[in-house]
Amino acid sequence: MVLQQVAKPTIVTRPDPDALAELGVPPERIPRHIGIIMDGNGRWAKARGLPRLAGHRAGTQNIRRVLEACRDFGVEVLTIYAFSTENWQRPPREVEGLMRLLSLSIHKQLKELDEEGVQIRHCGRLEGVMPRLRRRIEEAVERTKDNNRIILNVAFNYGGRAEILDAVRAIVREGIPPEEIDEEVFSAHLYTAGLPDPDLIIRTSGEYRLSNFLIWQAAYAEFYVTPAYWPDFDRQELMKAIRDYASRERRFGRLPDSSSG
Ligand code: IPE
Ligand code: IPE
Ligand code: MG
Repeated sequence: MVLQQVAKPTIVTRPDPDALAELGVPPERIPRHIGIIMDGNGRWAKARGLPRLAGHRAGTQNIRRVLEACRDFGVEVLTIYAFSTENWQRPPREVEGLMRLLSLSIHKQLKELDEEGVQIRHCGRLEGVMPRLRRRIEEAVERTKDNNRIILNVAFNYGGRAEILDAVRAIVREGIPPEEIDEEVFSAHLYTAGLPDPDLIIRTSGEYRLSNFLIWQAAYAEFYVTPAYWPDFDRQELMKAIRDYASRERRFGRLPDSSSG
């Protein structure tokens, strides 16, 4: 399976046959792009009588496990919602803790992720991010840009509305005539330029909302909500989500394939 023309370099998935057999979903029914709203770290910690940051730590560690499972199933892009433009409104200590965790996990994991062929991308604004963390993100993106096994797209300091505004500004700045602005041109100015739209969006810990996540790109995504808190969302939970997705019929506004005349 190949990302046509759009993404550079081309992602060449190599699904693990045993993993696919266990999953029981044919390769053509595997979502190319999965977005995850990683929610519930705080509740996970609270349920254990731990501070919220312990939940964020466990949540950060969980990313690796889910990324590996996605790679084994042949998913091309995994977008994770790590920090929203609205999350700055949390108490300063929690915000600082989250920044520190991200910085640390890039520092600790970059070498291994690079060796495993993971292409790291950042999705969001880098303005306003502390210089040290900003440098680490830029380094991770630069170092892994030619990797082609799977894309880990990190939505950090991300907001769907901010992204749309940034695209509008870029389009106006470039002086593109109004009649030339179509969906393709617009998409090419989003942070996700070159990536396919998400096929499946998963939200952990039970809330039925997008919270400003990929609001343009999610137009036809299938939505899956699980009560599991993010730190508990493991390979088995991911398999449930993919099986559920694979059983659905996507219509994109058309009539079902079976009905004719
Ligand atoms: C998700 O967990 C992580 C971030 C939003 C950064 P939360 O921190 O939102 O956890 P809950 O919703 O309070 O349980
Ligand atoms: C969404 O979770 C943002 C991330 C997962 C990073 P929130 O916990 O911030 O969302 P709300 O506040 O419940 O909508
Ligand atoms: Mg939350």
